[in-house]
Amino acid sequence: MRQLQLVFILALCICPAIWAQQLDTLAPDSGPDGRQLKLWLTISARKRFVEISWKNAPARDGDQVLLTIQDPHTFELQSVPTGTPLAGFAKSRNSDSESESEESSGSGADQVAFVPIHGYTTPGTVAKADVIPMRQQWGSNGGNNQIVAAIKPSQSAQWFTTGVPFDYALSRNVTTHSDCYGYWASYIDDHGRILAKTCIRAHPRWMTNWHSGLGDLRLRDLFIPGTHDSGSYRPNFDPLLRESLVTKYALTQDDDIRGQLLHGARYLDIRVGFYRPSEEKFFIYHGITKQRPLKEVIQQVKDFVQETNEIVIFGLKSFPWFGKNLAVHHLLVAYLREQFGDFIVHPSLTWHATLRDIWKRQQNVILAYDKSEVVQQYPDLLFSGVDQRWGNVQSWPRLERHLRYINDFDVSRFSSRPVVDMAELTPETWDVILDKDGGLRKMADNVNWRISQLYRDELGEHANIVAADFIRGTTLVETALEMNRKKMGH
Ligand SMILES: *[C@@H]1O[C@H](CO)[C@@H](O)[C@H](O)[C@H]1NC(C)=O
Repeated sequence: MRQLQLVFILALCICPAIWAQQLDTLAPDSGPDGRQLKLWLTISARKRFVEISWKNAPARDGDQVLLTIQDPHTFELQSVPTGTPLAGFAKSRNSDSESESEESSGSGADQVAFVPIHGYTTPGTVAKADVIPMRQQWGSNGGNNQIVAAIKPSQSAQWFTTGVPFDYALSRNVTTHSDCYGYWASYIDDHGRILAKTCIRAHPRWMTNWHSGLGDLRLRDLFIPGTHDSGSYRPNFDPLLRESLVTKYALTQDDDIRGQLLHGARYLDIRVGFYRPSEEKFFIYHGITKQRPLKEVIQQVKDFVQETNEIVIFGLKSFPWFGKNLAVHHLLVAYLREQFGDFIVHPSLTWHATLRDIWKRQQNVILAYDKSEVVQQYPDLLFSGVDQRWGNVQSWPRLERHLRYINDFDVSRFSSRPVVDMAELTPETWDVILDKDGGLRKMADNVNWRISQLYRDELGEHANIVAADFIRGTTLVETALEMNRKKMGH
């Protein structure tokens, strides 16, 4: 066990180095713009810590990446009393305590001088009371902007899990008018100059904001962020308090549907099951576990598109407990028609339709139904299912190979039917029973930062829909928007 952990830690430690190297070889002379310093903020799945990542950083002596709770306009040096005890971040390379090792297996992992400034500690671990002899430290906005974490960048591209817990109550306050909220990250040099900054942000209207630029494109032409098993969330769930074997392998998202849409997802992976005993007949299923009522999911999609006029692909598939004949499908389609009503995009538009064609009809929800016998019978309601490219793999090397393969040998590139890269690991049944993988959150933390890197550095340009578990732990939305902006020629 000890040995395994060591190997794991070692593997994680060399990752940023490899990553940095890849960047150098991939973008050797891509002008000043291609080498622009960029920062991202994400949220880890398992412990919901704020994560900070960057690329193209100068990583000079004296540079720092600072996490604040408001938009920073200035950074200035302040003197602080000597001897102020700071909570050391319990994450040292040679540590051998169980909880710390587990910490190191978070999303990205690396060891640098990292001090959570106001004593944030890792839940479940005892903070080491490193007494840092006090001197000057950075303040922001004249001392009015709290700095909660500081990192010394040592590589041009890195990904860190901070010890700062993200409170999902912040996300529940997001509206269709929100932008930045909660946390900001700034990369500053030794003079306190801000070289780049970012924030945790919602993207409630990215399509309509770019209405004219995107109008001529089809959904197949865009990079569309999606969520895997979108309805497998639990309102107000806290994995640090209530995790069980069932929640560990059933839940795939932390935001409800509205939250997913507000944060930029436009493809939903909806697995509807039939549950005869209850009055409410249709539920979202993950495998055989019953999750949210379909009605709740539909209501949130309707409210969202009504407020924003965004376009959403509602991808229906799987259909557990529907039985052998199509009777239950007919019930479901009738239910979808009744619930979505005028929001349903008319299938006569076909997948060839541009966003402008869709907006012209004032319809917003595409019902992509993954059962052709049913689609044929409802030419006024249902689009054919999108092509989900699922690897059914259990490790990052195999997931990476799968994602590269489906993008490199994309036989459907000339079709207008959207394709979905399923960018998540899938545990095997026995591994779930034995809890071998530690749960979907742990698996997501293991791959989400790598998926983020793969799409932003390599696959993003040609990707169509990418669906991930715990999408808040990825930079897929930011990458999608960046790629789409390029497509409209900005
Ligand atoms: C959410 O908004 C309410 C009302 O404005 C506010 O009282 C509350 O503190 C907010 N919650 C968080 C976590 O910011």
